[in-house]
Amino acid sequence: MRDTVLWAAVDDYIEEQLVPEEDGMQEVLAACDAGGLPAIAVSTAQGKLLHLLARMHGAKRVLEVGTLGGYSTIWLARALPEGGRVVTLELDAKHAAVARANFARAGLAHAIELREGPAADSLAALHAEGAEPFDFVFIDADKPGNPVYVDWALKLLRDGGVLVLDNVVREGGVIDAASENSAVLGTRAAIERLSREPRVSATAIQTVGAKGYDGFLLALVRG
Ligand code: SAH
Ligand code: DHB
Ligand code: MG
Repeated sequence: MRDTVLWAAVDDYIEEQLVPEEDGMQEVLAACDAGGLPAIAVSTAQGKLLHLLARMHGAKRVLEVGTLGGYSTIWLARALPEGGRVVTLELDAKHAAVARANFARAGLAHAIELREGPAADSLAALHAEGAEPFDFVFIDADKPGNPVYVDWALKLLRDGGVLVLDNVVREGGVIDAASENSAVLGTRAAIERLSREPRVSATAIQTVGAKGYDGFLLALVRG
């Protein structure tokens, strides 16, 4: 088997054994597909990882940058205790409409606030409003925006908050210091920002699976 075929087959096995079909999650992806959204949501196994990280951390307030059709948002919202909230930020009105319909169908509209517009503006507005600090931030929008999103996350997270940054490996592209690819440049700048920040303790895990070769950066942020 070619590696990518093998990785996808192992993801199938992991899902079969450890991620039993959750109510309505396949419908969420079907609605994204029917709405013509790109198939760039986190994989099922990765959605469950985000869900478990949020639950393990006891996150009550979650911030997501980059909603798409709300697949990762719903995994995160299902990790919340009673009264918890996800605030999710999306630029594209078409993506936001599909996501809102998915939240309503999943019975989670009350727990999810979707803010439409450029994430940098929404993040600045949250800060200006004096939003209650977040326990957990998942950044997964346009990659050139990563340094700005990481900066806001450091301001919006509580002391002891968790930051997860998606797509940090990019099939190994992240180590190309001469890259002119804006996604690589944005991701490298975000990683350098975090590495210089004394309040942050971080690592990254490389991932293979149904979505190919990529990775997550995980960070704990002190106040
Ligand atoms: N987290 C989603 C996938 C997000 S894909 C999931 O796993 O299910 C990235 C999303 O970021 C896209 O929907 C894209 O429209 C959005 N995006 C791109 N640029 C943005 C910006 N400047 N502000 C907010 N969202 C943006
Ligand atoms: C893309 C964006 C993502 O967040 C992702 O997980 C995969 C692909 C993209 O823009 O191609
Ligand atoms: Mg992503």
